[in-house]
Amino acid sequence: MTDTSDFENMERDGWSNPSIAKGYADGFEMATHHVAKKLADAVDAGPEVKVLDLCTGHGVVAKELVARGATVSGLDFSEPMISLARSAVPKAQFVQGDAMAMEFPDEHFDAVTIGFGVPHFPDASRGLIEAARV
Ligand SMILES: C[S@@+](CC[C@H](N)C(=O)[O-])C[C@H]1O[C@@H](n2cnc3c(N)ncnc32)[C@H](O)[C@@H]1O
Repeated sequence: MTDTSDFENMERDGWSNPSIAKGYADGFEMATHHVAKKLADAVDAGPEVKVLDLCTGHGVVAKELVARGATVSGLDFSEPMISLARSAVPKAQFVQGDAMAMEFPDEHFDAVTIGFGVPHFPDASRGLIEAARV
């Protein structure tokens, strides 16, 4: 099995840096906002739909899902990102955690969104299997 711990540590360290978190939130605003709308369309976000936004970052996808009436949880391992998300989207619930091994039970959500998160997974198939599980 491939050892992905160096990649995993680099990702955690990088995103835990408050200036990288803020720089991403500000610098990629136009692209992330555009994709958030596409993701919300893809999961038919609306009232009665319970969505998990993985790698939620500063909450750009969560914000779009909430605007459409969905019940939204966001998960990210970066404390500064979670803090930005909580300020931006008070109506969503945010938890700090690892997308590769979540504590949610099986089939807890109706849908999962992931905006620009998969390339940051140390093992994309493991992350997607975990997303499908919840
Ligand atoms: C490029 S940002 C995307 C933020 C937002 N979803 C968007 O659409 O702009 C990637 C985010 O994934 C988070 N992340 C990366 N790997 C993760 C993992 N294994 N578990 C939880 N969060 C992770 C990072 O902390 C970062 O906030």
